[in-house]
Amino acid sequence: MGLSNENQVRKLEHVDIVVNEKTEGPGTTWLEYVFLVHHASSEVSLNDVDLRTQFLGKGLRAPIIISGMTGGAPGTEKVNGRLAEAAGKFGIALGVGSQRAAIEDPRLENTYRVVREFAGDIPIVGNIGAYEFVRYDLNTIGKLVDMINADALAVHLNLTQEIVQPEGTPCFSGLTRKLELVIKELPVPVIVKEVGQGLSYEVVKDLNAHGVSIFDIAGAGGTNWIAVEKYRALRRGDRLKALIAENISDWGLPTAVSIIEARRAAPNSVVIGSGGIRSAVDAVKALRIGADLIGVAAPVLRAYFNDCLDEYLQSLIHGIKAVLVLTGSRDIMELRSKPVVITSILREWLVSRGFQGL
Ligand SMILES: Cc1cc2nc3c(=O)[nH]c(=O)nc-3n(C[C@H](O)[C@H](O)[C@H](O)COP(=O)(O)O)c2cc1C
Repeated sequence: MGLSNENQVRKLEHVDIVVNEKTEGPGTTWLEYVFLVHHASSEVSLNDVDLRTQFLGKGLRAPIIISGMTGGAPGTEKVNGRLAEAAGKFGIALGVGSQRAAIEDPRLENTYRVVREFAGDIPIVGNIGAYEFVRYDLNTIGKLVDMINADALAVHLNLTQEIVQPEGTPCFSGLTRKLELVIKELPVPVIVKEVGQGLSYEVVKDLNAHGVSIFDIAGAGGTNWIAVEKYRALRRGDRLKALIAENISDWGLPTAVSIIEARRAAPNSVVIGSGGIRSAVDAVKALRIGADLIGVAAPVLRAYFNDCLDEYLQSLIHGIKAVLVLTGSRDIMELRSKPVVITSILREWLVSRGFQGL
């Protein structure tokens, strides 16, 4: 119970810090070095644009997932319920935050279960940290899926966060073997997900060879967990942890880099482009350079607390349609044939890695 309480306080602290402190940067997504070309004579109208796509065997009305954030503390069922309701309304996918709290204290299951009640039949993604994933038996991992009737389970690789977190456990030894085993036994797919430092070509290539075929790259440039944990350390007077966090605060692969690297490494996999997607233009750039879906976390939470969640999602979807019109594309397939310009350090990065041509 003691551990669960600590867990619950941490969950609420995370939400509070992300909503109220400066938790983005200093790095950027590098999407600012990606340019789509304005097509002034576009004959596509907004009504012609079709954003529908398939994800986890179900249809989405737009290629968007609300990334996993919450659950696991009293009160979070309200947030999760509302996010689920909005995701259902707009026909997009939804992830929950780490379900570890409900394994440690089953009374908290309801804070996650609520999503299925409100979301209808949209794809819902369960969530667990790599550290717990390696240690849980198959039965416990199965419970994570059953709890919310999940369509997939995301295993998050939060190594950087574990390193700077006061109570962190930064060791994922045994992860690849466990992934292989669980992928064979679990009735739903496993998604490997970062939380804001990105997945590299090497990581995606290796995990793909071990059976992982869905990646949420969560690159750098959006919510920065090193910054979040720095604020937590400061709030509890742990100056050493705060300074350690500050020393590595610009670590990570920018989102644009990670999307391109993941797509290169596993051309037939599903790539979710996330981490710092802050506008419809960002979203369409991510879709153009290799993402199948885009993921958004912190802006959704802020919109929830500002009581404008539906407007936020509606404007994002409308904006994506608008940018497709402006590139002369009817759908994401067509978008992929449109010109894209890669400039500056992103171009140099790709040359240096030998990844030219999109
Ligand atoms: C309050 C909050 C809690 C989060 N908790 C989790 C979590 O439990 N599991 C996880 O995989 N990612 C978690 N994330 C990370 C997000 O899923 C996402 O990968 C990251 O925030 C980058 O997206 P963004 O820049 O749009 O916020 C959390 C993010 C936020 C803002």
